[in-house]
Amino acid sequence: MSGKIFKNKLVVRGLEISPPIALAPMVGITHSAFRSLVQGEGGVGLLFTEMLAAKRLPHDSELCSPLLIRDESEKPLIYQIITSNEVTIEPAVEKLHKLGAQGIDLNLGCPAPVQRRQGAGAILAGNHKQLQKVLCSLRKSTELPLSVKIRLGHRLAGDELRSFCLFLEAEGVDMITIHARLNGEKFCRKPRWAVIGEIKDAVSVPILANGGIFSPADARRCIELSGADGVMIGRGAVERPWLCGEIARELYGIGEGRKQTESSEIYAQFITLLEQRFAPERRLGRLKQFTRYFAASFPFGHHLAASIQNSDCIEQARRRAAIFFARSMC
Ligand SMILES: Cc1cc2nc3c(=O)[nH]c(=O)nc-3n(C[C@H](O)[C@H](O)[C@H](O)COP(=O)(O)O)c2cc1C
Repeated sequence: MSGKIFKNKLVVRGLEISPPIALAPMVGITHSAFRSLVQGEGGVGLLFTEMLAAKRLPHDSELCSPLLIRDESEKPLIYQIITSNEVTIEPAVEKLHKLGAQGIDLNLGCPAPVQRRQGAGAILAGNHKQLQKVLCSLRKSTELPLSVKIRLGHRLAGDELRSFCLFLEAEGVDMITIHARLNGEKFCRKPRWAVIGEIKDAVSVPILANGGIFSPADARRCIELSGADGVMIGRGAVERPWLCGEIARELYGIGEGRKQTESSEIYAQFITLLEQRFAPERRLGRLKQFTRYFAASFPFGHHLAASIQNSDCIEQARRRAAIFFARSMC
């Protein structure tokens, strides 16, 4: 281990986040099986669900909806909702209370056309009048920690970002995650961690910095440039489910001496978790989605990705993966 050790605990409205490393909300990826996989490798202090449509939430069953299935060990877990309509909030929050959420997050960064058309995600972030109604309803409905996830905005303007964060804070938001890219920017664009650093001191609530963290060195650089209170990891944790554990050891001095699980074992564990948590017809699609990212961390990983994409059942995928890992050890 080398370099400075950062403050390893964050408390948000009574919720302890230690280490301050969050697993990002990712549609199709951050379901129960993946959250447990990453948690098993240590180092993750906060879990998020993938985004959930607030208007559907009250009608979905936690026993069979793959979006709501959760093992009780998955804690602390913040449920991320997406909506543009304040009327959907109260019933959705009531449901989240029943599900035992540790916190609620509002998605204010999603640029997907379907959300844009509904005035949600990044569009709601730009519509302060409507956003105020949504946040007011959220704050009135819950005592749980309330967070939002935003991007940097539609252009580089530190003063606009600063006043937006102050507005969020004034509306009762307890924590802000900032994905350090502008609204329309693709993931191949380098994240702009330093822009967070320009506004950090003006904002009182904790800030998590997100975007482009694939190694402990990235996490360190991100915190140094952004001054953020913690980091949120997305694709890096899919490529390397042990990444949060590595960051926790190197930046926060947590979990030192812990042995890292072999990649082949991680993959086998993930299949087992999919089998434990999901109905048979829901497993293979999720394995394929995970493998698209996971395979990227291996030399010749495209062979693994292709063989899993072409698998017809989970058993075939398991056998093909075992062959790939046996060969890659030769
Ligand atoms: C497949 C995928 C699905 C995503 N789904 C969500 C989502 O449901 N809610 C959200 O706020 N962001 C979502 N994101 C964005 C991530 O949370 C994160 O902000 C982004 O991937 C940048 O972080 P990273 O570079 O660590 O991956 C998604 C990203 C990916 C790649």
